[in-house]
Amino acid sequence: MTAIDKAFENLKRETKTWLITGVAGFIGSNLLENLLKLDQKIIGLDNFSTGFQYNLDEVKSLVSETQWKNFTFFKGDIRDYSTCEKVVKGVDYVLHQAALGSVPRSINDPITTNSTNISGYLNILTAAKEERVKSFVYAASSSTYGDHPALPKVEDRIGNPLSPYAVTKYVNELYADVYSRCYSFHCIGLRYFNVFGPRQNPNGAYAAVIPKWISQMIHGSDVIINGDGETSRDFCFIRNIVQANILAALSSPVKSEVFNVAVGDRTTLNQLVKYIQFYLKENDVFHSKKPIYQDFRIGDVKHSQADISKICSQLGYIPNYTVKQGLEISMPWYIKKDFNQC
Ligand SMILES: NC(=O)c1ccc[n+]([C@@H]2O[C@H](COP(=O)([O-])OP(=O)(O)OC[C@H]3O[C@@H](n4cnc5c(N)ncnc54)[C@H](O)[C@@H]3O)[C@@H](O)[C@H]2O)c1
Repeated sequence: MTAIDKAFENLKRETKTWLITGVAGFIGSNLLENLLKLDQKIIGLDNFSTGFQYNLDEVKSLVSETQWKNFTFFKGDIRDYSTCEKVVKGVDYVLHQAALGSVPRSINDPITTNSTNISGYLNILTAAKEERVKSFVYAASSSTYGDHPALPKVEDRIGNPLSPYAVTKYVNELYADVYSRCYSFHCIGLRYFNVFGPRQNPNGAYAAVIPKWISQMIHGSDVIINGDGETSRDFCFIRNIVQANILAALSSPVKSEVFNVAVGDRTTLNQLVKYIQFYLKENDVFHSKKPIYQDFRIGDVKHSQADISKICSQLGYIPNYTVKQGLEISMPWYIKKDFNQC
């Protein structure tokens, strides 16, 4: 039996209370769906800055009525400490996802990214410490590797941050470490590498590359590649991320730890275009032209690939889904979402 199978068995025997911040966002709503299906009690917090009510509505449609009754939602902001105090009451585990993502957004507006990702993070971390929750798991980021050239990326070898966003995610890790030393409050940071899957927003200036390209290829609009297309990423399907969060929450760290969460593989943007084209053609909705190549974007790293041996050996994580499997599973959702908007 794998570690995640054991975790599922334990959770089915005993209902726990979880706080998911950023619950109306992409990753938060997937955590919500999976934990409700395990009959867990969930408290959710979101201010709808980049998350959506329709993500919560979709989760409602995917779980039973009884399971949905286990969900309590608070509309609120992690930058308000009293809100954080309110939502951590009686919570066993915190999965902190609320943040402003996107490197370009942080370059355009570093102040709002800082207040959400650092001050907001510190509020929820402190409130969780005061409540003495069993564990605090937070969304860290592969952007923390910055300009460190080594591949694959190993947790303790990081370089200089390349964007305000990367600074904020690194500061989260520093605070987690200091809270471990000063208050014996041990947290787990999960350094996600480019995540994709259902409920990832395809719209707006800061949309991630996979949903954006799928939408552009369906509509026959230009697909822009920043650089020569040989830039590579360790794209990670959302179900791997859900697994890592549950394993991290149920573990008992003796100090704060940070783990890479990815597949441990590398896909270039040129390969990614081909994979997406293949699945769209299979679904008969491919209307694209040749990609257009532009300059590299400021703040982007050229290659990214995770060493996942630490999370595999210490938490029993197994990346069950490859990029291709994740794309195949996600494609019907992306296509349906796109046509619903037309
Ligand atoms: N998606 C990825 O590839 C990726 C990679 C690395 C790290 N992360 C991190 O994972 C987390 C979740 O990312 P996501 O992709 O689901 O993004 P998302 O934008 O879909 O979700 C973030 C959620 O947080 C909410 N939020 C933002 N500011 C808030 C505030 N002040 N108070 C309350 N709620 C607030 C948003 O409304 C949104 O629902 C973030 O911390 C992000 O930095 C994501």
